[in-house]
Amino acid sequence: MEFMDVITTRRSVRSYLNKPIKKEHLELILEAGRNAPSYQNRQCWRFLVIDDPKIIKEIGANTGLVGKINFFIKDAPVLIIACADPAKSGGINGQDYYLVDTAVAFQQMMLTAWNFGIGSCWMAALSEKKLKQALSIPKKIRVVGMSPFGYPKEKEGLYGKMVKVFAGSNNRKKKDDIICFNEWKL
Ligand SMILES: Cc1cc2nc3c(=O)[nH]c(=O)nc-3n(C[C@H](O)[C@H](O)[C@H](O)COP(=O)(O)O)c2cc1C
Repeated sequence: MEFMDVITTRRSVRSYLNKPIKKEHLELILEAGRNAPSYQNRQCWRFLVIDDPKIIKEIGANTGLVGKINFFIKDAPVLIIACADPAKSGGINGQDYYLVDTAVAFQQMMLTAWNFGIGSCWMAALSEKKLKQALSIPKKIRVVGMSPFGYPKEKEGLYGKMVKVFAGSNNRKKKDDIICFNEWKL
């Protein structure tokens, strides 16, 4: 895919085919994260890759922020938990850069995945406590987000359609509303 096509056609996927991801593609997805920029190049991110279908189903069923909100990950062949060790990053102006570091790396992984036709969906609606318990993630580590990775079903399911409407996912603000040049005009 052309680089800009990867960027502009990526959309969150919430219905997955039960089809494995090629090993070499998963390797490149992880490599894309590993190459991301980070605060003082400290690379505070840690990625927990789950490819055991039983664990993925359990996480989808039991670690949502509210009820079974994350049930849709159940068929995805891979789930990646994007974590960080905040002590290995830093902060400026009261902003914690472990969040930025990890988000940048995770997005690089998602875009690389999409280049191979592999969908993903940033997920924040999780219970960090339950997830850490379920996966024995150490106390000092923060869970920044997670995402399933897998081939999209041809048609998005009802839940995915509802989220897209609720979040207005296909809308993008006009350039004039978010970008200005030389002086603040927003
Ligand atoms: C930080 C962050 C958290 C998100 N959390 C969730 C989530 O918990 N569940 C979900 O279904 N989508 C989640 N999303 C996906 C957004 O709803 C989605 O990116 C947005 O509506 C734009 O749609 P698109 O990704 O299809 O372009 C999250 C996205 C981001 C960046």
